[in-house]
Amino acid sequence: MFLFPPTAAAPLPLARADGRAFAGLALTAASAAALGAAGADFLHPEELAAWAAAGVEKRRDDYLRGRYAAKLALGHAGLAGPAAARAILPGVFGQPVVRGGGGWQVSLAHSGGRAAAVAFPEQHPLGIDLEACDSGHAATLARDLSPAEADWVATAGLDSLVALTALWAAREALSKVLRTGLMTSFAHFRVAPPTAVPGGWRAEYVEFPQYQAALLPRPGFVLALALPRRTTLPWPELSATVTGF
Ligand SMILES: CC(C)(COP(=O)(O)OP(=O)(O)OC[C@H]1O[C@@H](n2cnc3c(N)ncnc32)[C@H](O)[C@@H]1OP(=O)(O)O)[C@@H](O)C(=O)NCCC(=O)NCCS
Repeated sequence: MFLFPPTAAAPLPLARADGRAFAGLALTAASAAALGAAGADFLHPEELAAWAAAGVEKRRDDYLRGRYAAKLALGHAGLAGPAAARAILPGVFGQPVVRGGGGWQVSLAHSGGRAAAVAFPEQHPLGIDLEACDSGHAATLARDLSPAEADWVATAGLDSLVALTALWAAREALSKVLRTGLMTSFAHFRVAPPTAVPGGWRAEYVEFPQYQAALLPRPGFVLALALPRRTTLPWPELSATVTGF
């Protein structure tokens, strides 16, 4: 698939004690006009219809960028064949379901003119969130913080808006793995104090010990991945992909 700049996409090999799993990651802020003109190259006919039916311009642009990132991520995860042959359609909770993906699934997010997607094999669930750092959302982001989360925001050494955005993105990424969205009480999505790793932060979830979060703050946004706790990420490659975008 053609890379419309600015776009970054790469394989995301995941290490497990019992072997490896393969995922793919893509981020884009490509212009909606350029993507729209090439829509038939990567959108399935049912996606083209959904795009045409999405009334509001922002939703149409988000849809394009999100589907474009997801198709790139699927290709980098290892799914061969034309992108337009597979459709990413909403399940009953709005979750993306890949039809024609042979067991591959995706998680995707859009915010502030950017989109990100991760593609993964069904046996190794992942969730993603990308949040623009927006001071207009600070009050919402600070809502319902646990004392430990509030303490981390105050002491992490990050700009507080970035730290709040990172915690929010960690929760959203988990809510996507669980397919609940953020309809569930925030208390269930509590994030234990993150620890710094080269290129980002690693965190665990207080009530979901089988998952961990990778948090990558970059200028203007934070990318979060929720993944099984016993999976090791290729941090240098992951960090380079997110930075290179
Ligand atoms: C799901 C949710 C966390 C997404 O957050 P957001 O900031 O609105 O949007 P993002 O850009 O981060 O993510 C949007 C993508 O999340 C995915 N998504 C939506 N619902 C999802 C769910 N329940 N599980 C996993 N992924 C979901 C979709 O791929 C969507 O993009 P698309 O519609 O273009 O395919 C948020 O919409 C939410 O909590 N909604 C609450 C309502 C809800 O969960 N309803 C479910 C039916 S009861």
